[in-house]
Amino acid sequence: MAKDVSKQIERLREEIRRHDYLYYVLNQPEISDRQYDRLFAELKKLEAANPLFVTADSPTQRVSERPLEGFATVRHAVPMLSMDNTYNADELTAFDERVAKQLGSRDYDYVIELKIDGLAISLRYEGSMLVTAATRGNGEMGDDVTANVRTIRAVPLVLMDGDKIPAVLEVRGEVYMPTSSFVELNRLRAEACESAFANPRNAAAGSLKLLDARITAARNLSFFAYATGQVSEPLASNHYESLKRFRELGLPVNPNIKKARDIKEAIEICDGWSEKRSELDYQIDGMVIKINRFEQRDILGATGRAPRWCISYKFAAEQAETTIESIDVQVGKSGILTPVANLTPVLLAGTTVKRASLHNFDELKRLGVGQGDTVIIEKAGEIIPQVVEVKAKATSNVPLFEIPKTCPICNSIAVKDEDGVYIRCVNRDCPGQLKERLKYFAGRGQMDIENLGPALIDQLIENRLVGNFADLYKLSEIQLAGLERMAEKSAANVITAIEESKTRPLWRLIAALGIRHIGGRSAQILAEHFSSLNALMKAAENDLAEIDQIGPTMAKSIYEYFRDPENHSVIDQLLDAGVKPEQPETRRSDKLAGKIFVVTGTLENLSRQQAQQAIRQAGGKSSGSVSKKTDFVLAGENPGSKLEKARKLGIEVIDEKRFLKMMEE
Ligand code: IVH
Repeated sequence: MAKDVSKQIERLREEIRRHDYLYYVLNQPEISDRQYDRLFAELKKLEAANPLFVTADSPTQRVSERPLEGFATVRHAVPMLSMDNTYNADELTAFDERVAKQLGSRDYDYVIELKIDGLAISLRYEGSMLVTAATRGNGEMGDDVTANVRTIRAVPLVLMDGDKIPAVLEVRGEVYMPTSSFVELNRLRAEACESAFANPRNAAAGSLKLLDARITAARNLSFFAYATGQVSEPLASNHYESLKRFRELGLPVNPNIKKARDIKEAIEICDGWSEKRSELDYQIDGMVIKINRFEQRDILGATGRAPRWCISYKFAAEQAETTIESIDVQVGKSGILTPVANLTPVLLAGTTVKRASLHNFDELKRLGVGQGDTVIIEKAGEIIPQVVEVKAKATSNVPLFEIPKTCPICNSIAVKDEDGVYIRCVNRDCPGQLKERLKYFAGRGQMDIENLGPALIDQLIENRLVGNFADLYKLSEIQLAGLERMAEKSAANVITAIEESKTRPLWRLIAALGIRHIGGRSAQILAEHFSSLNALMKAAENDLAEIDQIGPTMAKSIYEYFRDPENHSVIDQLLDAGVKPEQPETRRSDKLAGKIFVVTGTLENLSRQQAQQAIRQAGGKSSGSVSKKTDFVLAGENPGSKLEKARKLGIEVIDEKRFLKMMEE
């Protein structure tokens, strides 16, 4: 009896997998969604009655009910490199010349693919089973997003075609959100007063980075496979054949893949797609041209960051024509006043655009744009569409837009920057600025406080509940529940989200402060270098400027920020309120204690960043420039002027081998 049930369960699973395959890989479904749902319900029922037979590879087990605490880090067995870009046919021809020269012949062919605008993912199958899914991260290490990727029905949990599958098979590809799902998701979010995602790529990335896989499951993500990572035995001797094998294994491959005999043919294929891309239900931002034969790829190799056997051909940004209905002035988080155009809504690259940035008043003047004008707008991969050109002036004699003399929000005087481009509201208590600062502070890339959206921030400011970042941490559920459109449950959710943000990593807090010129990347560098907010606050300007990739402008800005008594007071309040950022990497040894290193040139085994990290973990410091204080210069290939300077100052120069030895000693 039990055997019969187990057989029946396995049969149903096979059946469901076959329909997934027909739907996602062959694009030829045989049954309706309803019929599929019925099969699924039947399997669920049987499994519920026989829980002993439930296995992780069952189609019912895609969604984990338990949210994660955070993402673990995964080291990629084979690094995930990036790709060099080209923007026109001449650059492609030049690429082809380099290939021909390096291969010493013209006996090669290309495979042409769409460049899917989603995010890269690496799927690791061991013994046919999906064991890990990781994001690209920095190329060497990514986030373990297995729980979320398992919810994507286009990703098989088990590979098909049993016996010929390599024991280890890493499949790389793109996770994306279909444009139609993206539009629907934003519609639902607007209804729920949640902020919209700027484009399908952000929506896909946001959905993959959720700790609760049940939400990811509802986001309708999809997947195309386009490369292999580590494989215990190759699938084929060339790319085109290995994509065919992917399909046989049940992995979805984009159907619009073509072979080209030479670059001329490749260019023709690419140009055809620039027009046709709006017909697709997913976004592409260009084409990818790849050498087909693997042995030739091996000869071509890679530079530090990208393979020499492939190149992307990016499309020009998509454009649309519309009219300017009015021009508003917005206040940014540092007081910059930006003119923003309100447009007659128009569809552009899959989204309806109603507003476009005009950057600054110089730009406004240069474009000569005013109310009622017909303009061309474009999206060049950026989130905010831009007005690029005035197509026709309005017939009525509308006066040109006047440069504001006061802030539109607080009415205090607006001042032009020293370098002359920006006009700023210099009242630091301006509610408009405060709103932007809080929005940024709570944003995904910073403290990532869910549910604290613009509408709520507006209310918090209006009701004088919040006057700075620290006030967020003093809010109570009762205060929030008193606000408009705020049910008890949502008030509790907001408080929990704020509470959770207290222990975000240090770099997020540094980024969230909104120090001028300091974005996420520089915040990470600073957090790694100083390990505590206190140490960063005390840093001298020239010490800051010495840090690799920081430089004098950022150093000055950071230094000045922390010298300001008001900023100091807000930070004290933040810490008092219990904000306790998670400290980065703990020190592993004292082998290099007190030693100052400068890393220069390309190392063989370590990236520059890895070397710098290793130095810090061993108690040393890494600096961006050579001075008398430098103890060692770690030099790789093509070290440049830093090596010369070290020689001049008589500073010891070491190579990577010696460095690794020092770390071992
Ligand atoms: S091949 C070494 N093929 O583009 C690069 N990448 O700009 C191997 N992408 O990170 C990648 N569509 O996320 C490849 N058909 C395609 C692609 C593709 C989109 C993305 C991928 C990669 C990025 C590089």
